[in-house]
Amino acid sequence: MAETLTTITGSKAEQYAALLPQIEALVTHEEDLIANLANVTAALKEQFGWLWTGFYLVKEDELVLGPFQGPIACTRIRKGRGVCGTSWERGETIVVPDVEQFPGHIACSSRSRSEIVVPVFKNGTVTAVLDVDSEALAAFDDTDKHWLEQLVALLRF
Ligand code: SME
Repeated sequence: MAETLTTITGSKAEQYAALLPQIEALVTHEEDLIANLANVTAALKEQFGWLWTGFYLVKEDELVLGPFQGPIACTRIRKGRGVCGTSWERGETIVVPDVEQFPGHIACSSRSRSEIVVPVFKNGTVTAVLDVDSEALAAFDDTDKHWLEQLVALLRF
């Protein structure tokens, strides 16, 4: 299958609405987890151009860095630590408008100003988190929460 991605301009919701069916088509035809996560991060990066877009996978008692797009990042995060570990512990999406105001935020890149972390669930258990970082303050809101939660629901692991 030839993988192509059509990116669009428009409102954030319009961009997500155009992107999600394409991501669904990509992951529906491929069973390999790493291949799918890699393509999801690339598609998000292509459409939105965020600083960092990637997954951390739950492995035993830690989150371990998975497929991502952007600057190199910390490889392991403990439960309850940083935005990612807190999202994992709570089992809920966390929107951080200003990373300097989030106690315990882990600064993998000094260029990151705001962040959203979305947990991925399988049978009610968090198996990974999707982490997105922006160089702009307050880049993420309820629109991103809504659509990124829909996006991770497409992932079967
Ligand atoms: N800022 C995250 C760490 C991961 S990097 O942003 C890629 C956190 O506080 O959990």
